[in-house]
Amino acid sequence: MKYSALAYHQLSSYDRLKMDPHALDWEQEPAVYKDYPGKKVLDIPLEVKLEPVSLFKLFQPQEIRAQNHPPSFETLGQLLLLAQMLTGRARHANGEIWFRSIASAGALYPSELYIACSGIAGLAAGIYHYDVSKPALALIRSGNPMPVLDGDKASGTPMLTFLISAIFFRSAWKYRDRAYRYHLLDSGHLLENLLLALRAFSFAYELNIDFDDHQVNEILGVDPRREGCLALVKVPFSSPVSADTVEPLESAEGLSRYSQVAAREEMYDALRIVHQESIKVMSGQECRAGDWVRYGLIDKNSWKSIASPVPANEVYRYPEVLLHRRSKRNFITGEPMSAACLSAIISLVNDGFESCSLAAKGLSCGLLVDNVAEMEPGFYAVKSADRSLALVTAGNFLGHMSHACLDQRWLAQAAIHVLLFADLVEVEKCAGARGYREVMLVAGRLGQRLYLGATVLGLGCCGIGAFYDREASELIGMPDQVSLLYLLAVGQVKKSLHNKTK
Ligand SMILES: Cc1cc2nc3c(=O)[nH]c(=O)nc-3n(C[C@H](O)[C@H](O)[C@H](O)COP(=O)(O)O)c2cc1C
Repeated sequence: MKYSALAYHQLSSYDRLKMDPHALDWEQEPAVYKDYPGKKVLDIPLEVKLEPVSLFKLFQPQEIRAQNHPPSFETLGQLLLLAQMLTGRARHANGEIWFRSIASAGALYPSELYIACSGIAGLAAGIYHYDVSKPALALIRSGNPMPVLDGDKASGTPMLTFLISAIFFRSAWKYRDRAYRYHLLDSGHLLENLLLALRAFSFAYELNIDFDDHQVNEILGVDPRREGCLALVKVPFSSPVSADTVEPLESAEGLSRYSQVAAREEMYDALRIVHQESIKVMSGQECRAGDWVRYGLIDKNSWKSIASPVPANEVYRYPEVLLHRRSKRNFITGEPMSAACLSAIISLVNDGFESCSLAAKGLSCGLLVDNVAEMEPGFYAVKSADRSLALVTAGNFLGHMSHACLDQRWLAQAAIHVLLFADLVEVEKCAGARGYREVMLVAGRLGQRLYLGATVLGLGCCGIGAFYDREASELIGMPDQVSLLYLLAVGQVKKSLHNKTK
């Protein structure tokens, strides 16, 4: 059987009249931490040493030149902590759950982070798994990863590549076939945090989405039916001097069993097949950008530029903001969101779009505005190239949208909903199912930006992956080929949510 990504998205859609009840099998609740017993473990000190910086400055596009030398083990530990750390704890019927600096659908945390390195002082060359729970690095394969990941360079030449994967059953346990959406969105959240950490430490990076899946999964030693790598981030060095010669990578035998996270894991067909399809990389062809005029939703003269963001009053700075990022649902409809906050939020999305390539150009952003100072409520198109908006339809949509989001009524109290769409017909045409991976990863990246940006502005934010797909699209009159990928609600919240911090 063969699915297009569009067919997968439709097949994994929710329909109010066809919801298939699904009781969670708690006996098979997936483990949220990957463990490699018997492997050498290096502890990472749980302390971030970084001068606080403005998050908005960090987000601005900037040219960073490759550093001469690889980071020390200490700096590498900092990068990993900033990419993902535990931030707070809650108890539930079956025990406790630790929240993290990234959001995750259902707090199921499908994404894993690895590094492949050579020539880092204090760290033997090899492949390591980052254990966020300790935090620590576990050496899972010692030896030189370079020939597979970085071409035919001399053994021992410094290299550092981060690898992000998803363990499929973690989210599929609850969300079944819809889970592939969350594997991609969640991994996008992690990816954005990692890239932000690299920028904070002034490391240049090269993001690679179009790698050879078979080769990379093989090098990680994962079971490709259960876990798949989704993104590589290479850190280049400008003067790579050779270190000591390093042995070839040791065998990956026995590692694949650690991709299993429950005794009895069900495989979901649509998820399995779309992932299989997305393994093929098509030769790069740029997608036609999402175009509101072409969709017939606005006139080309409707765009109105909005003021550039006034330097925002930042409640937190980076990296402290990572500890305070949580999903907030206690929105209040009191004071409207200021125009400056809205502008800052739009700039986060715009700057995020700048880093998009190829397929991700098919992504577009819309806004449902309900409670923003000096703005008529309505559905607005956002132009990603500059800071401009166009009113598509006037009216209050948040109540109806909250109904379309599986009746998550609290969503109606937010000030705005940010909507991320993609023309999946176009994405499919230019990049196949691999393009779906890319747009969803970018949507997740933008989601993490919005969460952090809202936190800095003292606002609440919550990502929403659960919506009746057709109902949500019809509500705002989007054309059939354009699918809603992700929604984020942002607005004022009651200042009463306390989280215990580790
Ligand atoms: C892709 C994605 C989809 C989500 N969908 C929903 C949703 O539909 N409803 C909701 O209340 N929260 C949703 N969330 C928020 C998660 O429930 C939340 O991130 C998780 O419980 C961890 O809590 P924290 O964000 O406070 O750390 C979503 C998060 C992500 C990343």
